[in-house]
Amino acid sequence: MSKHAVKKTGIIERFREYLPVTDKTPIVSLNEGNTPLIPAEALPAELGLKNVRIYYKFEGLNPTGSFKDRGMTMAISKAVEAGSKAVMCASTGNTSASAAAYATRCGLKCYVLIPEGKIAKGKLLQAFRYGAKTLMIRGNFDQALELVKEVTGDGKITLVNSINPYRIEGQKTAAFEIVDDLGDAPEYHAIPVGNAGNITAYWKGYKEYKKAGKSGTLPQMLGFQAAGSAPIVLGHPVAKPETIATAIRIGNPASWQGAVAARDESGGLIDMVTDEEITKAYRFLAEREGVFAEPASAAPVAGVIRLAQRNYFKEGSRIVITLTGAGLKDPDFALSFNDPVYTIEADLDAVKEAVGS
Ligand code: F0G
Repeated sequence: MSKHAVKKTGIIERFREYLPVTDKTPIVSLNEGNTPLIPAEALPAELGLKNVRIYYKFEGLNPTGSFKDRGMTMAISKAVEAGSKAVMCASTGNTSASAAAYATRCGLKCYVLIPEGKIAKGKLLQAFRYGAKTLMIRGNFDQALELVKEVTGDGKITLVNSINPYRIEGQKTAAFEIVDDLGDAPEYHAIPVGNAGNITAYWKGYKEYKKAGKSGTLPQMLGFQAAGSAPIVLGHPVAKPETIATAIRIGNPASWQGAVAARDESGGLIDMVTDEEITKAYRFLAEREGVFAEPASAAPVAGVIRLAQRNYFKEGSRIVITLTGAGLKDPDFALSFNDPVYTIEADLDAVKEAVGS
């Protein structure tokens, strides 16, 4: 390595021994992972939790602005290793952004199928800019995923949704990082649930790290769906899922069983929160904590608020909340609060008057 070479720090390099790669696997990476675990300050104070510590695992700081990059570095690297020339996914937006970026980095073609009108603008523009062929269906995510499964069934195009097991392998590394940072697993881990791949991946990661002797305990997994899109909570698929948190607007999650296993094996729960609660938590995060995450990421924050009000959390415990995506992904939602705009003359008196000095 030349003395000017920058060290590769992606999740495959960092956690190679826990991942299904060999020396022959060509690593396609954008130095994803290594995201900060940010201590919550305003939230425990607001909830009156004196002896409970809360941390945000801020996955919005990944290269394409969401946790999907952890899974995508694995899925795309393995697709290249297998000789694939093209990849495809259905997406509510973040998977498509990530697939498009990693595919273009190694010259693979990328096709994405997204629900027309129900994807946040920042995610749509990422698919365009990273050069994916972007197909909008007049239907929802669940329909898109069914179509992608059929189109990729003959194996000519590699499916990179989280039913691709390499996605889960990559995403489990977020749990490793949390244990490395805290020195052990937290008592509780709260996370949004959409297609349910990520809760499945975290639980796998926590279990593997404990087995490897890196932690002494396992967390309770606390999953949160949006009330209008809560198939796992209701116990049946939802034909027409709705929520302002478009990332988790999913009615029939592919990893349903994985989520239920994570919940039951960990002694945790999967609950739902309303759009109103999600919106309040979303604003609290940005306006009080200074952490700007997208609406779906606020669902587990809303969930933790709900549980704290029921005195759910044990004294002395730690809660980690995964904030799955960046706030800038969804500018339309961010601008939907009628914030006052002060347009003033470019003149000192006008500015002084406006700031009251
Ligand atoms: N949060 C964000 C920001 C997401 O984009 C997603 C899923 C989730 C949470 C839920 O994770 O599906 O593993 O349970 N987004 C997928 C997509 C469906 O297409 O980008 P999950």
